[in-house]
Amino acid sequence: MTDLPRLRTEALTRTYPSGEGHVTALHPFTHPFPPGLTAVVGPSGSGKSTLLNLLAGFDTPSAGRVIVGDTDLHALGEADRADFRLAHYGFVFQNHNLVSILSAQENVEFPLTLAGIPPRERRERARALLVQVGLEKRAAHLPNQLSGGEAQRVALARALVRDPAILLADEPTGNLDSHTGERVLELLTAPARAGRTVILITHDRDVAALADHTLRVKDGEVTVEGDEVETVAPTPPPLPRLG
Ligand SMILES: Nc1ncnc2c1ncn2[C@@H]1O[C@H](COP(=O)(O)OP(=O)(O)O)[C@@H](O)[C@H]1O
Ligand SMILES: [Mg+2]
Repeated sequence: MTDLPRLRTEALTRTYPSGEGHVTALHPFTHPFPPGLTAVVGPSGSGKSTLLNLLAGFDTPSAGRVIVGDTDLHALGEADRADFRLAHYGFVFQNHNLVSILSAQENVEFPLTLAGIPPRERRERARALLVQVGLEKRAAHLPNQLSGGEAQRVALARALVRDPAILLADEPTGNLDSHTGERVLELLTAPARAGRTVILITHDRDVAALADHTLRVKDGEVTVEGDEVETVAPTPPPLPRLG
């Protein structure tokens, strides 16, 4: 297996203009994202989606960098960034963002089509993913003929079809019943166990409990949970006996 590109940030910052001044949606954040499942938690409006959109290169930082392997994501031009994203990333959004005029099968094939994979291989790979998410019987359905949970699973199949090194998910289980949510989660944890970097925004404590790493966002400040463990002083050696 070739080395998978690792994701890291350097003083990644996002401010928005607001009236006379600006609001800081993300304070400078430097972090080496380890492989495995990272949960991003925090109240609504704290900056979670801002962070994810920057990591994906959908949004441009006000300062700082997103580095993937040896590549500075935002130093790439628009077209190169799109190609780079296609090669290394998968996404699942809260709203599935499926292409409404394409069937479930065609939606899953879409990233493969863009990557120039020949039709036969495309069909087979998309089919295999639809089986994995339990939707092989819905392959010919259009998005509006699917339930919310089904559409979300199709979106997940689309995100996974190229086995991306980096998988980003913004509350993918938010609109799902708990059973479907569990399935979606299983499908996100499998690549994490296989050494992919999976970053998952969630409100769900049970989901966050499954993560290998947790980032807590509050008012645009990101703290790495579990860090405090390292600062605990080691047990002191026993005192020498007196006398
Ligand atoms: N396009 C924008 N223009 C101005 N402010 C924005 C914009 N997008 C997000 N914000 C602000 O940035 C902060 C973080 O938003 P967001 O990242 O969407 O939070 P979360 O995903 O944690 O709910 C919020 O205060 C929000 O109002
Ligand atoms: Mg959000």
